[in-house]
Amino acid sequence: MALRDVSSALLGLLLLLHTWGGWADVQVNMEDKVEVSLGQTAQITCMFTSDDGIGAMIIQWFYVKRSNEKERIYYRDATTSVADRGTPFTDRISMNGSVATGEMVLTIRNVLLEDELEFICLVKSLTDGTAEGRTKLQVFETPNAPTIEAAQNGISVNEDVLSKIGTCEVKNGHPKPNITWYRNSTPVRSVPGELHVKSTVTSESSGLFSVMSELRMKVVKEDKDAQFYCEVTYFVPGATLMTETSRINVTVYYPHDAVNIWVASPAGKVKEGDRLELQCEGNGNTQSSIFTIRHVEDGRSWESDRLELQNVSRLDSGVYECEPFDPEFLADSIVTKNTSVFVHYLDSAVVTPGAMMEVTKGGQLQASCNALSSLQTNTVWFKDGVEVSTGHRLIIDDVSFDTSGLYECVVTVPEIEGMSTSSTLTVKVVGAPEIAEEDTDLETYDKSVQLKCHAIGYPAPEMTWTTSDGKVTKTTQTETESGFESVITVQVSSNITAVCHASNEYGSDLVTFTITAKSNGVIIAVIIICILLLAVVGAVLYFLYKKGKICGRSGKQDLTKGKSSKDNIVVEMKSDNTEEAILLGVNGEKQPPNDQ
Ligand SMILES: *[C@@H]1O[C@H](CO)[C@@H](O)[C@H](O)[C@H]1NC(C)=O
Ligand SMILES: *[C@@H]1O[C@H](CO)[C@@H](O)[C@H](O)[C@H]1NC(C)=O
Ligand SMILES: *[C@@H]1O[C@H](CO)[C@@H](O)[C@H](O)[C@H]1NC(C)=O
Ligand SMILES: *[C@@H]1O[C@H](CO)[C@@H](O)[C@H](O)[C@H]1NC(C)=O
Ligand SMILES: *[C@@H]1O[C@H](CO)[C@@H](O)[C@H](O)[C@H]1NC(C)=O
Ligand SMILES: *[C@@H]1O[C@H](CO)[C@@H](O)[C@H](O)[C@H]1NC(C)=O
Repeated sequence: MALRDVSSALLGLLLLLHTWGGWADVQVNMEDKVEVSLGQTAQITCMFTSDDGIGAMIIQWFYVKRSNEKERIYYRDATTSVADRGTPFTDRISMNGSVATGEMVLTIRNVLLEDELEFICLVKSLTDGTAEGRTKLQVFETPNAPTIEAAQNGISVNEDVLSKIGTCEVKNGHPKPNITWYRNSTPVRSVPGELHVKSTVTSESSGLFSVMSELRMKVVKEDKDAQFYCEVTYFVPGATLMTETSRINVTVYYPHDAVNIWVASPAGKVKEGDRLELQCEGNGNTQSSIFTIRHVEDGRSWESDRLELQNVSRLDSGVYECEPFDPEFLADSIVTKNTSVFVHYLDSAVVTPGAMMEVTKGGQLQASCNALSSLQTNTVWFKDGVEVSTGHRLIIDDVSFDTSGLYECVVTVPEIEGMSTSSTLTVKVVGAPEIAEEDTDLETYDKSVQLKCHAIGYPAPEMTWTTSDGKVTKTTQTETESGFESVITVQVSSNITAVCHASNEYGSDLVTFTITAKSNGVIIAVIIICILLLAVVGAVLYFLYKKGKICGRSGKQDLTKGKSSKDNIVVEMKSDNTEEAILLGVNGEKQPPNDQ
C-alpha cells in the first residue's frame, strides 16, 4: 500500500512537472500518512525536484507539536547531516537517500505512541526557493483478545427496566477499537426503551485505549435460546481486522402457559395398594412456582408438583388437576391440566354357599367363588395344591368320600400381574359309613386277639363291636387321616365271631371277623405219644442190647429218617420250578437260579 502511494504520488509529481513546466521551482511530494505498528520502524519519504544542482539543497525535518509549533529534528546540507539535539527523536532517527535521486527517507526506530504526529520535510534550494511536504504518522497496536461476561442472574420477562445481558471488554488497542454486539449473528440496534448499548472508552496510562461495552435490554421468552456475543474491530497498518468473543446465553424467567400432569408411577394400570405418583410440570421457567394438585371430586389438594400416595384405594380414583401459581407473574392467566386416574380393585374372594358345605355321597357338589373387581377375573380351584377346576363354578358329580377336603379358589386379574385373592371351601361328603376291611377269617392259638376296624363316613360314624357271645362293646374310636379307627381285644376261649359296626344317620356298614381258636390239646397229645414211642423204642433197644445185637445204630437211623423226611419236602419243591430255587437259596447261599 505504501508503495502504491509512493508510485501514485510520483505520477502526480510528473503530471505537475509536466503541467507547470517552466515556472515550477522546488517541488516536494509526500504521502499523506504513514502507518506503523507500535515499536516498529517507520519510514517517511520526502520526494523533491529542483532545477538546482545537488549541492545547493538544504533539507530539514520538523514535527508539529500539540501546540502547533514546529520543532526541527533533522538537518542536512551539502556538508552536514545531523539529528537535532534534545528532541524526542534525537536518538531514534536517521536519514538516508540521496539528493541526486530526489528522495530522502526519515527513519524512526522503535516508534512510540507519542510519535503519532505530523512530520514536515522542508526543502530549500538556493535559487529556486523553498517547498515543504507533510506526512502524518499513525501508530497502531493490536488490542488484547476481547472478553465477554454474562450477567450472573436470570432475567424475568416482566422486568420493568432494561436488564443487563452482559459486558464485553477489549483492552490496550490503538487507535480505539470498536465493539459491536450480536444477538444470533445479527448486530443489535439500540431501540429506546428496549435495547441500549453503552460503551466506555478508557485511555490507559500507556496511551492505549480500552473499550468496555454493556448490553442492556428487555428480554422476551425467545431470548432463552438466543446467543449473544461481541465483535471487536480494530485497525492494523493497512487493514481493518475483527475478532469475536465466545457466546453467552441468558437465563430467562417466563411464566407457564401450559402445564401437564401425568401418572409417573406405576407404569400401566393402577391397582389398590399401589404407590401412586403424579407429576406436574409447566412449560415456563420460573423461580418460585407453586404447584397445586387437586383431587377434583373430593377436594383434597396438595401443594407440590409431585404427589405421592401410598397404598391407594378405589377412593383415590378420579380427576386430578394441576395448577401452577407464579408469584412473579401474577398478571398472567391461569392454566390448569387434568388427568384421570382409575384405581383398579379386586375384592376378597367369596365362596358360596359358604366356607363349609356338606354334599350327599353320590350327589353333586356345586360351589362358586367370585371376587368383585373392576377388571375381568380368572378363577382356578385347587385341592391339596392340585388344580381341579377352572372357572368360578366348581361342579363335581357323583361325589365320594374322597371328594371331601379343603378346596382353595384363587381369583386373579390377568391384566394386572400380582393382583389376586383366594378363599377356601371345606367339603364334607355325608353318607352311610363304609368299612375298609373285608370280612376276615383268622386262626389263632393265642388267648386274645386285637381286631382293628376302619370306617370312613360323615358325620362321624358310631362304631361298635358285637361278639358271638352276645357282648356289645363300644370302644374309643380314633380319627385317622382317612377316617375312623376302632380297636378291640377279644378273648379267644373258643371259636368266635366279632362284628364291627359303623353307623351314622345315613346308614351303617359292618364287617365280620371269624376267629378260629386252635387248641393246644392236639399238640400235647402228640408230644405224649412221642414220649411213649421213645419209651417203647428205648425198651426195644435195651432188649436188643441185652440180647447182644448191634445197638444204637437202628435207633440212630430212626432219628435221621425223621429228619430226612423234612428234607424230602424241600427236595420235592425244588424239582418243581424256579420258585423253589429261591427257597433253597434261603437255606444256603443266595444265588441266581441260572447258576444252579
Ligand atoms: C537507510 O539507511 C539504513 C541504514 O542506515 C538502511 O538500512 C536503509 O535501507 C536505508 N534506506 C534507504 C531508503 O536507502
Ligand atoms: C447456555 O450456556 C450454558 C453454559 O453457559 C450452556 O451449558 C448451555 O448449553 C447454553 N444454552 C444454549 C441454549 O446455548
Ligand atoms: C469505530 O466506529 C467509528 C464510528 O462509527 C468509526 O469511525 C471507526 O472507523 C470505527 N473503528 C473501527 C476500528 O472500525
Ligand atoms: C392399605 O389400605 C387398606 C385400607 O385402605 C388397609 O387395610 C391396609 O392395611 C393398608 N396397607 C398398608 C400396607 O398400609
Ligand atoms: C378439569 O376438571 C374439572 C372438573 O372436572 C373441570 O372443571 C376443568 O375444566 C378441567 N380442566 C381441564 C383443563 O380440563
Ligand atoms: C372250631 O371250628 C373248627 C372248624 O371250623 C371245628 O373243627 C372245631 O370243632 C370248632 N371248635 C369248637 C370248640 O367249636
